[in-house]
Amino acid sequence: MKLINNPFVTYGYKGAEYFCDRQEETQKVMTGLNNERNITLIAPRRIGKTGLIHHVFAQIKEQQPDVCCFYIDIMATKSLEQFVQLLAQNVLDKLDSPTQTALRKVSEFFSNFRPTVTFDAQTGMPTFSLDIAVHQEEQSLRRIFEYLQQSGKRCYIAIDEFQQITNYTGANTEALLRSYIQFMPNVYFIFAGSQQHMMNEMFISAKRPFFQSSQIINLGEIEETAYYEFSARLFERQEMSLPAPVFHYMYEKLDGQTWYLQAIMNRIYANHAVDIISQAEVDQAIEELIDENETAFENYYSSLTNNQCALLLAIARERQVKAPMANEFKKKYRLPALSSIKTALTALTDQQLIYQYHGSYIVYDRFFGMWLRQRVTV
Ligand SMILES: Nc1ncnc2c1ncn2[C@@H]1O[C@H](COP(=O)(O)OP(=O)(O)OP(=O)(O)O)[C@@H](O)[C@H]1O
Ligand SMILES: [Mg+2]
Repeated sequence: MKLINNPFVTYGYKGAEYFCDRQEETQKVMTGLNNERNITLIAPRRIGKTGLIHHVFAQIKEQQPDVCCFYIDIMATKSLEQFVQLLAQNVLDKLDSPTQTALRKVSEFFSNFRPTVTFDAQTGMPTFSLDIAVHQEEQSLRRIFEYLQQSGKRCYIAIDEFQQITNYTGANTEALLRSYIQFMPNVYFIFAGSQQHMMNEMFISAKRPFFQSSQIINLGEIEETAYYEFSARLFERQEMSLPAPVFHYMYEKLDGQTWYLQAIMNRIYANHAVDIISQAEVDQAIEELIDENETAFENYYSSLTNNQCALLLAIARERQVKAPMANEFKKKYRLPALSSIKTALTALTDQQLIYQYHGSYIVYDRFFGMWLRQRVTV
């Protein structure tokens, strides 16, 4: 049975068949968890952190069905209370099969927090939520961890976009989590995040609560040969052939960044314009994607100050800039005074419009970089 129409997935995880390589990384994460280690997964955006977590959990489900795996993405949470709520919804009712007895047990355990159970109209699956009064977040969090601990089950909890906890106001969530996490013998965590500087700071700085609390894995690009073989095989389904030099052209152009490559190949596969793919199809797919994002790019660009625009454009044109404060670069692109460049550099970095890639500043979104080079004239 053909489950999906286009094998080049551009969102989420659709199973091992559509997931390229990452064998070594998958093994590393599984071995770590299996040996009582928490894992921290750090990488730039769109490289495949979330995909890897789902892949690891899919393998664990097959190989160790007794282990309970939970995934939460905390990007949209703004406070410890929302974090606790999300954790409760995703963990509590899924720890046991949703029998009446299990629901009663969990309700009793959380009776202080007036639990409510609602049933999904379509699947019939229960969703659990707690009524957390002001200043009760810490107790309810502790209660969730106590519940996990008393279950006696081995649990792995992935917290995606983990750097978000540093934005919560009030409680020191970092210290709080650390204090619970280290005393649970049956619960291990995967912390994943993309703001590399912040994630590194949280896990490597001796001053921070998570210092030395987990094994850090930096996720890099998928290796080119493995990615080529995977892609060529998937194109064969559409009776299309992908020559190695064409894949190499695309891989180089997008720095081997997973999402961009997936997005381009998804288009080429869908367009099905030729039997043998050439650079022309790659370029056309890129144009298509840039066109669709043009409004967003225009909006980003017009929201910037003049100095930020000038610096961003200069970085885009130069492609990679090792020393943005160097006189030569400043002169070439007629940039303002050094202090202004410095301010603009910080602002662009904070907005994640640029980042350091192999020691040089580049435009973070590769398509945005291309748009700036091709379509902005000053
Ligand atoms: N090994 C892989 N093989 C094929 N596609 C992949 C692989 N890993 C990730 N992808 C795809 O690449 C895209 C980006 O992956 P993912 O969302 O996992 O990245 P991420 O690092 O979590 O990004 P973000 O920081 O934006 O959350 C998704 O469309 C995903 O389906
Ligand atoms: Mg992700």
